[in-house]
Amino acid sequence: MSLLEQFVEFIEQVPVGSARAMSDRVLSRCRELTGAEAGTVFILRRRGKLRWLEAMSSQNAVVPTRNESFKVPVDEGSIAGYVAASGRTVFIDDAYDIPADRPYRFNPSFDRLTGFRTRSILCFALFSAPSRIIGTVQLINRRGDLPGEPLNFLPDHVAMIAPVNLIVGRAIERADHLERMALKNEKLRQRNHELVQERRRVEALRAETEHAFMLSVGLLARASELHDADTGNHILRVNEYAWLLAGLAGQPKAFCDEIRYSAALHDVGKMSIDKAILHKKGRLDAAEFREMQRHTVYGYEILKASDRLLMAAEIAHCHHEQWTGQGYPRGLVGEAIPLSARIVAIADVYDALRSERPYKKGFGHAQSLEIMRNGDERIDPINHFDPALLRLFAEHHQEFAEIWDRLRDAPPMTTPV
Ligand SMILES: [Fe+2]
Repeated sequence: MSLLEQFVEFIEQVPVGSARAMSDRVLSRCRELTGAEAGTVFILRRRGKLRWLEAMSSQNAVVPTRNESFKVPVDEGSIAGYVAASGRTVFIDDAYDIPADRPYRFNPSFDRLTGFRTRSILCFALFSAPSRIIGTVQLINRRGDLPGEPLNFLPDHVAMIAPVNLIVGRAIERADHLERMALKNEKLRQRNHELVQERRRVEALRAETEHAFMLSVGLLARASELHDADTGNHILRVNEYAWLLAGLAGQPKAFCDEIRYSAALHDVGKMSIDKAILHKKGRLDAAEFREMQRHTVYGYEILKASDRLLMAAEIAHCHHEQWTGQGYPRGLVGEAIPLSARIVAIADVYDALRSERPYKKGFGHAQSLEIMRNGDERIDPINHFDPALLRLFAEHHQEFAEIWDRLRDAPPMTTPV
């Protein structure tokens, strides 16, 4: 079997992607062929303009070699660095007696550390293509047949290895590439796993925060209701009517979701109104009436501080504005009134009609629908409501009735006689 065939055979036996196993076998075979006591295979690494050699395999038949990889810069200062930079083959008869005209120098630190004596050196470049160096092979101390001083390496040794240089170089480069890709993939997989975990943690935290936010909004709405008068599920129903009507009006999901919790806060400003005015039995005088109307402004002031409550703030501010401009506090007209507030105005009035209040009984759905469409002594739908929204309400009135039925207040407890 020819040398070339032997190399090809052992390269095929090495597992794909096992660059170190391959370089170990290449080094062993080079040492066998030349009779070298020791040697190192370096792989050339690149990052941008930076280039360095990384020891991939080190063998020494005399003293133990260091297991960890070490690096050598690609420059003319070291023997391997010079070979990697120039592509030239270097023969040295005695590492401690390198002629002064050579640019490189021998680094004796390994010898000092181990007591090993480096003498002859053969260092040549490994190629994966005629002008592409992928590393170097450094062989040390050619042993002769008889014990004694090491022999020098000869050009014949290089000539022996030269025919397989490209094959070996390509195989190591491919295996190294696959190995590094696998390592990179593993790192990416690990990073991806960490990101998924991190995303889950953030999601859980977000859900927790959202829950706390919704709870706070609900409690604030309930507190404002209790300050005014306990109107049972009024605020929950207004949320649901508003959500339904926003959807019927073709609003996106984000808008519908937001109005579903914001609507309940429409009267939060009543917490700032004196209870003497809020609960006064008789008619309010002009000053009291003006103060009562200011619950819209107070509500806006309370809610505007939070980005998450900006829709709630505009609803609180504008839910008593009227389509033709006769509402309060600013007398806005038509579409100058925020859509969310126009929606809540319809939801709030429908529910108020259905509900029992100290000054009125609760109306049935049919009577409430009639008032919403045609008005009564208190409600003038043409002036009060956005006509397009009112039309949607009238077309889908049964769905509003269903919300009322689903969330209707429990009847008052009666004492058994
Ligand atoms: Fe109000």
